[in-house]
Amino acid sequence: MLAKRLDQIGVSITLAISAQAKAMRADGRDVIDFSIGEPDFPTPAHAKDAAKAAIDANFTHYTAAAGIPELRRAVAAKLARDNGLDYAIDEVLVSQGAKHSLFNACMALLDPGDEALIPTPYWLSYPQMVRLAGGEPVFIETDERSDFRVTADALAAAITPRSKLLFLNNPSNPTGMAYDRAELESLAALAIEHDLIVLADEIYEKLLYDKPFVCFASLSPEVRERTLTINGLSKAYAMTGWRLGYAAGPKKIIGAMTSIQSQTTSSLCSVAQRAGVAALDGPQEVVDEMVATFRERRAHMVAALRAMPGVECLEPDGAFYAFPNVEGLLDRVPGSGADGAPTVRLARYLLDEAEIAIVPGAAFGAERNIRLSYACSTENITRGLGRMADALAKL
Ligand SMILES: Cc1ncc(COP(=O)(O)O)c(C=O)c1O
Repeated sequence: MLAKRLDQIGVSITLAISAQAKAMRADGRDVIDFSIGEPDFPTPAHAKDAAKAAIDANFTHYTAAAGIPELRRAVAAKLARDNGLDYAIDEVLVSQGAKHSLFNACMALLDPGDEALIPTPYWLSYPQMVRLAGGEPVFIETDERSDFRVTADALAAAITPRSKLLFLNNPSNPTGMAYDRAELESLAALAIEHDLIVLADEIYEKLLYDKPFVCFASLSPEVRERTLTINGLSKAYAMTGWRLGYAAGPKKIIGAMTSIQSQTTSSLCSVAQRAGVAALDGPQEVVDEMVATFRERRAHMVAALRAMPGVECLEPDGAFYAFPNVEGLLDRVPGSGADGAPTVRLARYLLDEAEIAIVPGAAFGAERNIRLSYACSTENITRGLGRMADALAKL
């Protein structure tokens, strides 16, 4: 009954775990959630006020498919201010979240047989979007030896005549790692040499703790020409529910993505767009405060994880995830291969035994790691990781 394109779309392996966590909570159990993918802060007051004012002004109708001009101008102004990039309004598209921009890009750029290069560990939607668009994901493995950053050699080895797109998530979900300028330059040189289009997913740009952020498109005019910068308001302004993301890039690609958007979702929510203008144009101190809090929590979480025997954890540069290696513990986790991948079984064990929810690395194409989000209170980090340490000690 279902279309063939769904054959390759796997069921989310995290779904069962989050469903179990929810059911346990509903039973009154004190499950601590480290699987969260969004800031636990409120949306800035000035953004909420702008949305309320938009409703009161009856700004409640369809808008232009690519987004209201004020919001596209605010995005262009942000790219100029923060990233030194100069985009005209018709080189900017606002979508229902960065996810929607990424999907539009896959639909606009991939033909059957085209390959999309995806460094692993990857954000779990990348391969699925590529497949839905008819392309083929080609994975490039990275691990702790390169701080989970793809090297030019590894990229060069994965490129074929069918390579069309390169996904580059900087800083990365799930690893939290961010690239240095020289590393990005060596990847960009290959993209130019092999005529790749780069989807630079920079949604965690603002959540970077020590390193400076290097925007891929800003490397050179030649790089800008083949880059779609994907970003959004979800993570920087704690606005996940408003669904505001954007893409900036060559006019031809943005135009194609706009056509796809106009035929599928029309415009995005008018009221949310006004909130987006206020967030981008308004005071930015809220972002700094959030970053300061995440920095403290990161230190707390990494220290607690490193104190657990069998757990090794790099210090993440950004985002709000720790991605410890638990390889040494996996052969002691209850169950067998029939019960799922080892990291999935570990996630289930931790939920049962420690009442904490984490995301298994298998969800990101990583078989030796697990992801824990520190978008939660320090108190919960202390309590939850204390329980985790006890549960691991029993293995
Ligand atoms: C790497 C990455 N890209 C894109 C997104 C999508 O964000 P949104 O659609 O909320 O803008 C997420 C959300 O978790 C993400 O982690």
